[in-house]
Amino acid sequence: MAKITYIEHDGTPHELDLAPGTTVRDGAIDNDVPGIDGDCGGNCACATCHVYVDPAWLSKTGERSEMEQSLLEFADGMEENSRLSCQIEMSEALDGLVVRMPESQH
Ligand code: FES
Repeated sequence: MAKITYIEHDGTPHELDLAPGTTVRDGAIDNDVPGIDGDCGGNCACATCHVYVDPAWLSKTGERSEMEQSLLEFADGMEENSRLSCQIEMSEALDGLVVRMPESQH
């Protein structure tokens, strides 16, 4: 299992242990963590699973794909550490990952 901490926009933390291979988006949806909508079902087609990856973890979560990049450009509040959480799969290497949610998913 790999630990992840989701931090809501208001600062409320949610700590979970996720099986490797579970996406950050699915971990939130399956465990009723608020702040990630994930409307397209995790298919990199909606940008409503936007999160900010804690800077300490940015190098370990990998690069955005071209499709992810273009979707994020339509998301409110895109930052350098913005990712689509359906495109981040948990693994032992990401044990301890911290992500923050934006104010809204639009
Ligand atoms: Fe739609 Fe991630 S769930 S882009």
